[in-house]
Amino acid sequence: MNVLILGSGGREHALAWKIVQSPKLKNLFIAPGNAGTASCGTNVNISAINFEEVRNFCIENQVNMIIVGPEAPLVEGIWDYFKEHLPGCKVIGASKKGALLEGSKDFAKEFMKRHNIPTANYQTFSIENIEDGISFLKTQNPPYVLKADGLAAGKGVIICDSLEKAVTVLNEMICDAKFGDASKKVVIEEFLEGIELSVFIITDGHSYKILPSAKDYKRIGEGDTGLNTGGMGSISPVPFANEAFMSKVEHRIIKPTIEGLVKEGLPYQGFIFFGLMNKQGNPFLIEYNVRMGDPEAESVIPRIKADLLQVFEATANGSLHEIRIETDQRFCAAIMLVSKGYPGAYEKGKMIYNHENIDDSIIFHAGSKIDKDNTIVTNGGRVMAISSFGSDMDEALNISYQNAAIIDFEGKYYRKDLGKDLKKYSDHLESN
Ligand code: AMP
Ligand code: GLY
Repeated sequence: MNVLILGSGGREHALAWKIVQSPKLKNLFIAPGNAGTASCGTNVNISAINFEEVRNFCIENQVNMIIVGPEAPLVEGIWDYFKEHLPGCKVIGASKKGALLEGSKDFAKEFMKRHNIPTANYQTFSIENIEDGISFLKTQNPPYVLKADGLAAGKGVIICDSLEKAVTVLNEMICDAKFGDASKKVVIEEFLEGIELSVFIITDGHSYKILPSAKDYKRIGEGDTGLNTGGMGSISPVPFANEAFMSKVEHRIIKPTIEGLVKEGLPYQGFIFFGLMNKQGNPFLIEYNVRMGDPEAESVIPRIKADLLQVFEATANGSLHEIRIETDQRFCAAIMLVSKGYPGAYEKGKMIYNHENIDDSIIFHAGSKIDKDNTIVTNGGRVMAISSFGSDMDEALNISYQNAAIIDFEGKYYRKDLGKDLKKYSDHLESN
């Protein structure tokens, strides 16, 4: 098979790293890719949201399958475009209607409500009823959670401690178009107290397979402080996501979601990422994403033992129920090295040292590129993830941390407290 991966992050490098291990693969292309994906296949400089350009590339290179990393091409309708204009090339992802699960928070919340999926109570407001929004805020307790309805590059959720601030943010979002058209509608919802986790499935639209779960670290600072980032690392599996908890996730959240997709006629042949809150042992759905998480992919994909291309083939032809996906029982910990200043302004073009001599971790590049003189330099805020296996969480983390100290570039930063929250949570459960 000839395969094209769309995207340029650590998630896409992890997908590429896994797919090159498949005996079914002939040629792998990544658009646009990064310095890491260049070692798995051929990076191509085409735009993932110019579908005609992608289609022409697929015709010229006899691409049989497109794997979509980020959400934007799915929300724009790449699945539907190929179904109509090049049906021989299968797109692994959601249809445009299915991608509304991520593309519109209001749609997602309505969908959860229709299918009795536990989630935070909410209401949606726009310019027509912004006064009702302010009245609604007054009936809620702090902290207040405000979400832009549309895609806002991961920045569209604002949590406010005071009512005054929440009213200001509501006005900014709706009246001042803080997130452009994405915040024409705003979802205001109840704050859920608990510990978060990310659960992933792959579905062919009817059946599904649950993939390993992961804990993601979103904030830049240790102890989950400071600004939100794309993700500073991940750990898989999540120790508290035991059989009893996962059974609740499956019956209360995953199954009703798939049944809802079928009932509402929303075609779906790809990943679903459930952003969950564990509230005293009960899972609540915070959000859907129509893709793998990043950096979750960097700890989840190494733990999938199956041939991923075989899984994708079954996803595309509706036979997922016929295959088994085995999981590596070891822990995998991914630590993200980022550029100084991220998630604010940062410099690029810093030479990366020592990443090629590492043999006990897997290095997944994110913001890196091959420079003119063939050296590998930083090219983004999140530069690379260091993923390691261990028989327990500590062992996996220790190996990643040892290598995080060895790999170097000017301005390197990483969080040194990954996993501490999980240990504290386990200790807390044991003492109760
Ligand atoms: P999202 O963009 O929907 O992933 O939201 C970003 C982050 O905001 C989530 O990962 C949570 O940490 C937090 N968040 C979103 N909704 C809620 C909520 N209802 N209660 C508590 N935290 C939330
Ligand atoms: N790690 C969270 C995300 O991919 O959105």
